[in-house]
Amino acid sequence: MTKTVITYGTFDLLHWGHVRLLERAKKYGDNLIVGLSTDEFNALKHKEAYIPFEERKYVLEAIRYVDKVIPERSWDQKISDVQKYHVDTFVMGDDWKGQFDFLKDYCQVIYLPRTKGISTTKIKEDLKLR
Ligand code: CTP
Repeated sequence: MTKTVITYGTFDLLHWGHVRLLERAKKYGDNLIVGLSTDEFNALKHKEAYIPFEERKYVLEAIRYVDKVIPERSWDQKISDVQKYHVDTFVMGDDWKGQFDFLKDYCQVIYLPRTKGISTTKIKEDLKLR
């Protein structure tokens, strides 16, 4: 049986912490779906990506670990995504630890340790100092 994994995020200014997350997520199955936050959803979260949605999607689709990118438009689509795509495993970085445990009724839920020393926020802050 083919196993499907899903993860969510903004993946702005794609960096090695993102790629390592995707690489490890992919190991839990055969197919990796990324729910990519839309610009509108980011605005709702008071977050603004430097790279617009379509370009972030294009970059993610070029990553060897990523099989499919779907839009993440709201907080409450996760259960229906898991059902629609027959997801076996939900993966997030451990900055979200515990927050998606409600999905355990529908699939396996795994929080992976974040890669230390890198984040989109750090890149943006560091570049301001140059
Ligand atoms: N992630 C990770 N290690 C990092 C940065 C991110 O494992 N150093 C993971 C997050 O835990 C999440 C996914 O990558 O599961 C997407 O994270 P995202 O929020 O888009 O990236 P950040 O770099 O954390 O962005 P920001 O600084 O804007 O929060």
